Amino acid sequence: MLALRGAALSFTGDPFDAGIEATREHIADAVVAMDGGRIVAFGAATAVLPTLPPGTPVARYDDALISAGFVDAHVHYPQLPIIGAGGKALLDWLADHVFAEEARYADFEHARAVARTYLRESLRNGITTASVFCTVHPASVDALFTEAAKLDLRLVAGKVLMDCNAPPAVLDTAQRGYDESKALIGRWHGRGRLRYAVTPRFAVTSTPAQLDAAGTLVREHDDVHVQSHVSENAAEVALVTTLHPKAASYLDVYARHGLVGPRAIYGHGVHLTAADFSVLHETDTALAHCPTSNNFLGSGLFRLAEATRRGRAVRVGLATDVGGGTSLSILRTMQAASEVAQLGGEPLAPSCALYLATRGAARALGLDDRIGSLAVGMEADVVVLDLASTPLLAMRMRHVRDIDEALAVQMALGDDRAIRATYVAGRCVHDRDAAASQ
Ligand code: GUN
Ligand code: ZN
Repeated sequence: MLALRGAALSFTGDPFDAGIEATREHIADAVVAMDGGRIVAFGAATAVLPTLPPGTPVARYDDALISAGFVDAHVHYPQLPIIGAGGKALLDWLADHVFAEEARYADFEHARAVARTYLRESLRNGITTASVFCTVHPASVDALFTEAAKLDLRLVAGKVLMDCNAPPAVLDTAQRGYDESKALIGRWHGRGRLRYAVTPRFAVTSTPAQLDAAGTLVREHDDVHVQSHVSENAAEVALVTTLHPKAASYLDVYARHGLVGPRAIYGHGVHLTAADFSVLHETDTALAHCPTSNNFLGSGLFRLAEATRRGRAVRVGLATDVGGGTSLSILRTMQAASEVAQLGGEPLAPSCALYLATRGAARALGLDDRIGSLAVGMEADVVVLDLASTPLLAMRMRHVRDIDEALAVQMALGDDRAIRATYVAGRCVHDRDAAASQ
């Protein structure tokens, strides 16, 4: 058993629905006790400490904030080597930068090297779970899951399905994509904490036959996830309309092939219609909000307030979308979400931004019964933020009046330096200060 002591912040429900005060649990001096990969005690130090077995080690974190580990609801690990390549909009960026790099992932060793870097960087940023796009090559999935299994990570990932409108080196066929996905599901889904996502890249690069095959995979394996992209960019939306003329909207392409539902999550959703939001709500399909990516690729402003509107709310998780996204820092991503909300005229409370990066993203992935909050019985994936990680932050924090202002300042000024420690299944997998002195 190991216990962490310091200020802690977690959510017991959805602040967009029930309000921040009713759902935010902020304990100035808390203890999180972890054993066997689970949280076994959480609460005020005065209440929890006397209940711990004598001799339990207690790691004390001052000037810190303990939170559930961050959840990145949508990311492409093979794009890490081309992060920041741009100045272009989505379709040109894919053609000019992405597909050439993704073509290299038929090579298991290349995939494994990038997967290792990706996982190490994610942990350095406090990300303990992600929903990851691999490439069209099964080796890219084997490489990521092999490395994630060593860390006992809770991770969702899948082989990208794409059978048209891209270079041959990154294409499969409807049948091959089906067969390879099925084999990968058999090999990885439910192994340890790993989970499989059927992953049609987007409606531009899959024929109706491939989308049908993806729908079949989902029907045949009722607890696998589904992930894709929807309505990210205006030119992309127009292209999908011409490629799939029978569909009522871009989202409807997926709905017609059985690819919406409680286990499905779609990245972006910048250009969704009111009717689309209703379909997402009614089918309980989730969205991944990718603000640094939408800004970098000039895709537009995601309407978070519209997505979370009471009575017709859609589950939303925050996501880096690296390499369209420009950072694996969840603090940077929260700040981008805040700025996008400001530009849209509907500010985002800092607490709600943290919710989107933890319990909200876990809920968007259908995993909030296991991860995303600090509570007894939850898996022990935890991040410790250093609230004074730079000289400016140390000074600025002396002037904050409440927890929301503290979070706002951390989002505005913080980055990977603020991640003091990351715990996965109760084990410390990143200790910033130990890593720095190595
Ligand atoms: N749409 C289809 N593929 C991609 C991708 O790799 N990144 C982003 N941002 N959008 C996509
Ligand atoms: Zn993406």
